[in-house]
Amino acid sequence: MIILGIESSCDETSAAVVRNGREVLSNIILSQSETHAKYGGVVPEIASRAHTEAIVPLCEQALEQAGVSISDINIIAATYAPGLIGALLVGLNFAKALAYRLNLPFVPVNHIKGHVAAAYLIQAQSDSRRAGVVTPYIEPAPPFLAFVASGGHTSILEVGASELRDAGDSVPYTQFKILGATRDDAIGEAFDKIARVMGFAYPGGAEIEKQADLGDKYAVKMPFAKVEGSELDFSFSGVKTHVINYINTLTQKNGGLTEQDKRDIAASFTENVVQSAISRIKRALEKTGHKKLVCAGGVLANSHIRADLKNLCDDLSVNLYIPDKKYCGDNAAMIAAQAYHEHQAGNLGALNQNAYAACEL
Ligand code: KG4
Ligand code: ZN
Repeated sequence: MIILGIESSCDETSAAVVRNGREVLSNIILSQSETHAKYGGVVPEIASRAHTEAIVPLCEQALEQAGVSISDINIIAATYAPGLIGALLVGLNFAKALAYRLNLPFVPVNHIKGHVAAAYLIQAQSDSRRAGVVTPYIEPAPPFLAFVASGGHTSILEVGASELRDAGDSVPYTQFKILGATRDDAIGEAFDKIARVMGFAYPGGAEIEKQADLGDKYAVKMPFAKVEGSELDFSFSGVKTHVINYINTLTQKNGGLTEQDKRDIAASFTENVVQSAISRIKRALEKTGHKKLVCAGGVLANSHIRADLKNLCDDLSVNLYIPDKKYCGDNAAMIAAQAYHEHQAGNLGALNQNAYAACEL
């Protein structure tokens, strides 16, 4: 089963060819971040137009790199939600039109489910693309706990939740239950805002990581947010505002931030949000008893959170699965991976499938 996946929910246009929901034959990603950097964040209309220009050549490139032709494709899949409406519509409408023209099944995929499905992916060996040779990899079959942390989302999810399976449905890869989510900013969004106030280019998450490597994580005291009555929900706006006020005070007092100030702020902020995440994930693992944890999304590129998750899972004897860094950020291979399971579950899209900024899982 060969799937052409398309992703255009934010500022990355991506097309990928994936075999059997697992083997990545190609995964082309075109980031618009340089274009948006001068505005300090994603400008939705510019994003939509950039997707429009990129989508056809990117799909052609994905097929070529995979060594397949369009007639080898069995399913067309695209992200339909959540994301920027105008951006989503470009990929979604292109995918529907292509499926219609080729008389192929069209599968709409939820972006968050796609991030989780990145954990199933392996890179096909270049000389074995056609032969279907698979590198050994034990993928995390549901049920498991998942943590998704990106520029737009921070959620703890149960995949293949047992009570849903008991209710009679036997396709756990498509069953998701939200146990906790952010009440305000997403974790990546908070990283980006702090970076922006310190003068780093959008998206600033990776730069904060570099600065944090050289800073003292105990240098700046920051409040730990709690969501009253909901121990698995997140809130990052309090710590974000605290850091912005701290930066403004220091700037007024000293006329600016020193290089060491920036490093210490980055390190202390990283420690704060990473510990917020770790404590909730720990609680969710204890509560549910899951022994497998999948973590995905752009923020999982961060080595501090990766290291702390590893320690947590070692302590609790939990198997940890974090996709390769190239599959952590937005990409179409993860969309094709989830589409494989949605197709098996019979979740096909109609040609009037719409895009949604937010939606249920
Ligand atoms: O998953 P993703 O590519 O897009 C969304 O679905 O939002 O995530 C992008 C987010 C951005 O906020 C970016 O700053 C953050 O992931 N990010 C990082 C790092 N690399 C990317 N945050 C912290 N540390 C990093 N190394
Ligand atoms: Zn994403």
